[in-house]
Amino acid sequence: MSTEIPDSRQAAADGSFEIYLAWSNQVLKVGADQTALEVLLQAGVPIEPGCQTGGCGDCATAYVEGDVIHKDLCLNGEDRERFFCPCVSRAITRIVLAF
Ligand code: FES
Repeated sequence: MSTEIPDSRQAAADGSFEIYLAWSNQVLKVGADQTALEVLLQAGVPIEPGCQTGGCGDCATAYVEGDVIHKDLCLNGEDRERFFCPCVSRAITRIVLAF
């Protein structure tokens, strides 16, 4: 019998992950069949949705912590250290945003 305790800060095997909104102290769950953009818009985070395919950068959002899996086609390596495109990108760990 395993005594390992699941860590909610880690992404689930199904590809879902969490976003923590630090200033509003909210934890949002991004399901495997959802985009982070959908979840953030539902939570009222002011993000401009553009192409929703990772190409325009309109949705680029600053994050302060987390291992992001960048899937956009518009941010360079330096940008990706601080921003992610929630329309297509996902995460290995919980992402923390300053909202
Ligand atoms: S909406 Fe265009 S990159 Fe996300």
